[in-house]
Amino acid sequence: MIACYPGTFDPITVGHCDIIIRAAKKFDKVVVLIMQNPKKHCMFTPEERKQMIEESIREYHLDNVEVAIGSGLTVKYAKKIGADALIRGIRAVSDYEYELQQATANLHLEEDIETLFFIAKPEYSFISSSTIKEIAANDGDISGYIPEGIRARLIEAIKKQNSGGSAR
Ligand code: COA
Repeated sequence: MIACYPGTFDPITVGHCDIIIRAAKKFDKVVVLIMQNPKKHCMFTPEERKQMIEESIREYHLDNVEVAIGSGLTVKYAKKIGADALIRGIRAVSDYEYELQQATANLHLEEDIETLFFIAKPEYSFISSSTIKEIAANDGDISGYIPEGIRARLIEAIKKQNSGGSAR
């Protein structure tokens, strides 16, 4: 069974890593799919986000996990790569309404592809990519929220942005 884990991943967090590791134990293959959320203005390019995800999961030696950059509709891309299911993480009740809407639309578009939810562990339930960027932008300590190997890169990107560089 192939699972596709779509998201913006701007950047990947320890919460995302936890979902990837857990999904890799349940599926033959997991494709972490970087997609465009039209409502988000990203700090990193899709290629940068792909590199950061690959670097973050390297230490777990997950031979059945791949990272891809998609375009268009997530569920259509998932179908094209032979995925059986989309997976998403739910951190709190507040995630549920949005996820329900997305999952229902995706089911309507491709009835063969189910969306399956992983419940985030409590220690990761408050973490989001924007929270981490906001803490880092205000010189807070983000260790423990973001994979260690990409922490310096995020801090560097925030410094660059604060000194006038543009977000993507
Ligand atoms: N741990 C930590 N953080 C988590 C998390 C977890 N387990 N699960 C979700 N999050 C956070 C993310 O960090 C992110 O934070 P942010 O909003 O501060 O950036 C937020 O929760 C959700 O983001 P993410 O999981 O990356 O998904 P998204 O909502 O940005 O992505 C797409 C949605 C890209 C999958 C969706 O927009 C999409 O499919 N786009 C393509 C077009 C399409 O097919 N649309 C659907 C048609 S109805």
